Amino acid sequence: MSNEILKKIKIHLETERLILRDIISTDVDGLFELDSNPNVHTYLGNKPVENIDQSREVIKAIQQQYRENGIGRWAIIDKETKDFIGWTGLKLVTEKINSHIGFYDLGYRLLEKYWGKGIATETANATLKYAFTKLNLLEVYAMCDIENIGSKNVLEKAGFSFIESFDYNGIEHNWFKITKGEWNGKQILNAKL
Ligand SMILES: CC(C)(COP(=O)(O)OP(=O)(O)OC[C@H]1O[C@@H](n2cnc3c(N)ncnc32)[C@H](O)[C@@H]1OP(=O)(O)O)[C@@H](O)C(=O)NCCC(=O)NCCS
Repeated sequence: MSNEILKKIKIHLETERLILRDIISTDVDGLFELDSNPNVHTYLGNKPVENIDQSREVIKAIQQQYRENGIGRWAIIDKETKDFIGWTGLKLVTEKINSHIGFYDLGYRLLEKYWGKGIATETANATLKYAFTKLNLLEVYAMCDIENIGSKNVLEKAGFSFIESFDYNGIEHNWFKITKGEWNGKQILNAKL
């Protein structure tokens, strides 16, 4: 990628190991590798994609969310190698889910080779800081298939509370929430430890 293109990409956050930036068209190969892997889709309630054009459409849809909502999922990039790891971040959900509408949802999806290294947790922590200090949101929600223990662990490590389980398209899901007050409390507690 040329330096000119790199300069134009909007970087939102940097963590110890990662860069979180807008998803761009050249992420398509990484996104296709991610979404064509059946293991990634075990708990996502949909089938892996079969051709790269489907991944191109996903990128366009996310870029439309950036324009319309000012936010959408971000690419996770390895700070050292600049490799694409997956996506993370907030999405403004505009359809009704579990009786909620117009809420901010935290989500993440990583290439299988990066699982089990604390990366989703690192991005969740950084995204919540952004949500509560930069966007000044009052609450953030998240949901996962009740069998998706990895995702449940990420959410609980980031400070989310389990609220209830609910039926989402015929599959039982867990519904999580964290408020700005709860997040602030967690920062104060961590500072004291
Ligand atoms: C779910 C997912 C995002 C987890 O990412 P990750 O970077 O591996 O998660 P972390 O390494 O931050 O793990 C957080 C905690 O969960 C645990 N964990 C992670 N995956 C786990 C699994 N499959 N089973 C049990 N525990 C798991 C980790 O050990 C860690 O706990 P610890 O700190 O006590 O050891 C990743 O597996 C993924 O992308 N899966 C496919 C897509 C998906 O399911 N997305 C979420 C949809 S709701």
